[in-house]
Amino acid sequence: MSKGIKIAIDGPAAAGKSTIAKRIAEKLDFTYIDTGAMYRALTHKALVNDINITSDHELTSLLEQTELRLQPSPTGQIVFIDGLDCTEEIRSPQVTANVSEVAAHENVRHLMVDKQRKLALATGVVMDGRDIGTAVLPDAELKVFMTASVEERAIRRHLEDEKRGIHTPVEQLKAQIAERDRADSERIVSPLKKAEDAVVIDTTSMTIDEVVEEIIGLAEKRMKK
Ligand code: DC
Repeated sequence: MSKGIKIAIDGPAAAGKSTIAKRIAEKLDFTYIDTGAMYRALTHKALVNDINITSDHELTSLLEQTELRLQPSPTGQIVFIDGLDCTEEIRSPQVTANVSEVAAHENVRHLMVDKQRKLALATGVVMDGRDIGTAVLPDAELKVFMTASVEERAIRRHLEDEKRGIHTPVEQLKAQIAERDRADSERIVSPLKKAEDAVVIDTTSMTIDEVVEEIIGLAEKRMKK
């Protein structure tokens, strides 16, 4: 008999976490939760409302007044901010450039982690982010730390962006990704860090299917336990 487990997928920007996590959730019929989308949603609302994103207090009160909803859909996850579909808007270059600053605030993170733990109460969950295995779901049955070279991640992000009509040179993406890695890894509160018991998967020269297969294999072993 298989059972629902919690799968935590962490790793640096553009390592392919959400693509992989989405596929795994589909295959296992689990709930997929993209926690980066939650930080992006708050960043988007803050920018639209001219909120000072260096202020933990201003961001926290904004978050307290915000209704964030993640709705699974066949194309991924739809993100609603106060009832409005903002799935596309939260991927804009402007949000991407500011989200690490927003995600570095201690009280913002406390509120987000609370929300994320509640979302994970459903049995069978695949959650991706930066601190899922270390802070949000330290008891997850399976923890994966997914990496890939900066070059490979920049190329993947470039191809993904092109499909959405965003044209940014690979070299520029490389610099942005490296900077986001630095900011996410060096922040004081819950930095991007591999959990001690996480399985590391370097996806640089792997296909999506190969990564999905490897993680499903690991998940099946955990479900039998
Ligand atoms: O995965 P992403 O690129 O959509 O994440 C956007 C930002 O949010 C990323 O730069 C770091 C932050 N983040 C975080 O601090 N903790 C998480 N659990 C998920 C994302």
